Amino acid sequence: MNFKGVIFDLDGVITDTAEYHYIAWKDLANKIGIEIDEEFNETLKGISRGESLERILVKGNKENYFTQDEKDELAKSKNDYYLTLLEKLTPDDVMENILETLKHLKENNIKIALASASKNAPLILDKLELSSFFDVIVDPTSVKVGKPAPDIFLEGARLIGLNSSECIGVEDSEAGVTSINDSNMLSIGIGSETNLQHANVVIPSTKILKDTISNLMV
Ligand code: BG6
Ligand code: MG
Repeated sequence: MNFKGVIFDLDGVITDTAEYHYIAWKDLANKIGIEIDEEFNETLKGISRGESLERILVKGNKENYFTQDEKDELAKSKNDYYLTLLEKLTPDDVMENILETLKHLKENNIKIALASASKNAPLILDKLELSSFFDVIVDPTSVKVGKPAPDIFLEGARLIGLNSSECIGVEDSEAGVTSINDSNMLSIGIGSETNLQHANVVIPSTKILKDTISNLMV
């Protein structure tokens, strides 16, 4: 298949900030008397900040406890803590084989886009010194519906000037894989077969991402 673009998720694909999101949400949840574990955290991956808070409140039967202003404060406090965790992020925190993959795509004139739900994405790419590889970073606030809806991947394809059938999407979350599949792109899931069973291709880690993409492109 003649793929001409690759659209990446960020957290948990390019770098392990998925773990930092979990640490920060767990801390926030604890403060309001709600217990969350790693299994529940899987359901937050790929989900926007506001919606993640809603899901945590529902989990703790506290969905009607707070006013919108208080919820905004809670989300801000989670993000403030998350930002302190990002302070120590350096180019050493880029996942294995990602730099090689991005270089390989550039050398072959393949378009590269980022479709992350994170408002912190530009900051993170800067800290990782990867911004220059990306032709486009989709602004998550510019799309109506977040993952698992296909909007953000469709917008990524539109902005790099390709049909979605010409693009490959790379994700670590169940919501993200659904978003890619429903946008009619080929999906590569990074993680466990159990969580990502709907992906067209699943690989356990980014270690073999470059070869996986190359094989799909021939
Ligand atoms: C996604 C993460 O990439 O971004 C989610 O998988 C996170 O866990 C979402 O909630 C929004 O991120 P941010 O940085 O805008 O709070
Ligand atoms: Mg992710």
